[in-house]
Amino acid sequence: MESFVAYNPTMIHFGKNIVNDLGETVHKSGNKVLMMYGMGSVKKNGIYDEVVSELMKHKIEIVEYHGIRPNPVVEDVDKAAKLGREEKISVIVAVGGGSVIDSAKITGLCIAGRFKAWDVMTRAVKPKTSIPVIAVLTLAATGTEMNQFAILQNNDTGQKFGYGNPLCFPVHSFLDPSYTLSVPANYTAYGITDLVAHALEAFFANGNSSLSDRFVEAIIKEAMHCAPLLMRHLHNYDYRARILWASTCALNGITAAGRAYTGDWAVHDIGHTLSLLYDIPHGASLSIAYPAWLKFQREKIQDRIRELGVHLFNFSSVDKTIANITDFFRSIDCPVKLGAVNIETDKKQEIIDLMLKNKVNGTVHKLHPDDYSRIVELMY
Ligand code: NZQ
Ligand code: ZN
Repeated sequence: MESFVAYNPTMIHFGKNIVNDLGETVHKSGNKVLMMYGMGSVKKNGIYDEVVSELMKHKIEIVEYHGIRPNPVVEDVDKAAKLGREEKISVIVAVGGGSVIDSAKITGLCIAGRFKAWDVMTRAVKPKTSIPVIAVLTLAATGTEMNQFAILQNNDTGQKFGYGNPLCFPVHSFLDPSYTLSVPANYTAYGITDLVAHALEAFFANGNSSLSDRFVEAIIKEAMHCAPLLMRHLHNYDYRARILWASTCALNGITAAGRAYTGDWAVHDIGHTLSLLYDIPHGASLSIAYPAWLKFQREKIQDRIRELGVHLFNFSSVDKTIANITDFFRSIDCPVKLGAVNIETDKKQEIIDLMLKNKVNGTVHKLHPDDYSRIVELMY
């Protein structure tokens, strides 16, 4: 087992109507908020009205920045930070999924340090402090609500990658499963794939940490058990709650203790390549990339895949384990091949070129540029 430091300061508020505690909680951090949200789902499902009325009840002044899109971009963060600085806000309330919350985390650093978002992401600057971020999560997927990571995209440089800093933990996160009831079937499935992928990334970071392996097993089994039920009953509170908590736990540090890295993350890097080029949703990029990566790594890491099979399916066949994981993604209607998202074989070289430019490799089972062509072929 590797040595590790465990630190997670985010206070989780979980349950139905939990947002009733939001105003009082925000008030402790300040009385002027920058409220950030996405492209408008919160207005349609009523979450916007509930959050605003809760803040107003506590006489909290609200400045809004909206329009954060899935696969969020640095320009939005720079604009939000400029607004927040001009308005002298003291706290950020991020209402949305991973895209909004990630953007809010970097906005907090940019306001406090007067930084440009890309300088933060590329570590050209070293933030010392942040505006506190309070998250109201509306989609179960990324785990950003209880972690220190943010992922942003820069379309000018053709890059999308993660940034981690303990200053990025949300101070509080409000998780009302009923806020996820309106997530459509496709994004519900992408979120489930994302949480399973996070647990798998941790598993393949090795580290000889048996308890962390068991957490991975529990999280994936919970997801595989609840997923078909939830996909049939999208309005079931209990299934939403179980998937929500599984997604939070899949990337809050609990699966990483005792490993050298939080995950291998090569599959996420491949997924980010696809999102950058074709703007496909994060979870959909992973359901395509994971089967290909497993098949590619089959010989090199067969013992570890076999262990995974024993944990998840009670058998030790490498091929059956890869097939079962692929079938699971397919069973919830996530794409497992590039053709399913209309990316035809003429795009192969374009994908390889961006992987080369961004040096996709992973932390443990490192990929070599010579490997890219085969991996991309396996995604077709
Ligand atoms: O923009 P709006 O209108 O709000 O609509 C969103 C968006 O279209 C919609 N949505 C969210 N909550 C909803 C809802 N629709 C109906 N009802 C609701 N309650 O869902 C769509 C997707 O939202 P988004 O925030 O993009 O999804 P997700 O939470 O999957 O976040 C994806 C982003 O997180 C990054 C990904 O790379 C991607 O950029 N990740 C962040 C991580 C982290 N910070 O730890 C780790 C992950 O691996 C991931 O990379
Ligand atoms: Zn992910």
